[in-house]
Amino acid sequence: MRTPFVAGNWKMYKTVAEARHLVSELVPGLQAINKVERVLCPPFTTLLAVRALLEGTEIGLGAQNLYWEASGAYTGEISPAMVAELCQFVIIGHSERRTYFGETDNTVNRRVQAALEHGIIPIVCVGETLEENEAGRTSEVVSRQIREGLARLDLVEGNSIVVAYEPVWAIGTGRAATAEGANSVVCDVIRPALSELYGESFAQAVRVLYGGSVKASIAADFFAQPDIDGALVGGASLKADEFTGIVQAAAA
Ligand code: PGA
Repeated sequence: MRTPFVAGNWKMYKTVAEARHLVSELVPGLQAINKVERVLCPPFTTLLAVRALLEGTEIGLGAQNLYWEASGAYTGEISPAMVAELCQFVIIGHSERRTYFGETDNTVNRRVQAALEHGIIPIVCVGETLEENEAGRTSEVVSRQIREGLARLDLVEGNSIVVAYEPVWAIGTGRAATAEGANSVVCDVIRPALSELYGESFAQAVRVLYGGSVKASIAADFFAQPDIDGALVGGASLKADEFTGIVQAAAA
């Protein structure tokens, strides 16, 4: 049994004051829904304030990135220990980082390894671009992202990582994948690649999320799929009622 998992990726939105406001709107509703692991991933600058507001709740906290070096002269970067001080989770390899900031499967791998070494659960994002999708290359691309991004790790427990399947063409476009289509990528590509790396029982224990234009009105379609265990939510995670609705759908 895989516990449903819903994470909100706030991206580069919310000042500290705005974050406090959103969290205060979110907490009562989210606290009432157990049976679902729910996680907020706000910007680095708001983590301390959000963490204080989440104290005493069962709502988890995640960062949106980290650097793999332990410390040093890396201006502008955040170390795994710095993230571990505040967060239980970290998003790694989001398509926006791959597209705008030069993230590759190799740098994803180094970041995932660093997160695991610090006891942080990485939410590893994979997904094909529109061009790759239209060229019929979805399986090849997603399989490579898993096999290279998660290679050579000390992974035994399936709950030590979370994977998010986020087709790039569905992110922020209002054009979500079909639930059946997303499920088949998870079932036919992602779990087999995980199984190849770490064995079938590991692959069956990993939570795999869908991400890309998830809204409360369509979330249940995805959660009804046998291989989709939750969602990574961008735009809709910035609205308390939408995000709470998505978590409720995951609990149903
Ligand atoms: P979206 O973003 O829900 O706004 O499409 C998802 C994501 O980028 O994780």
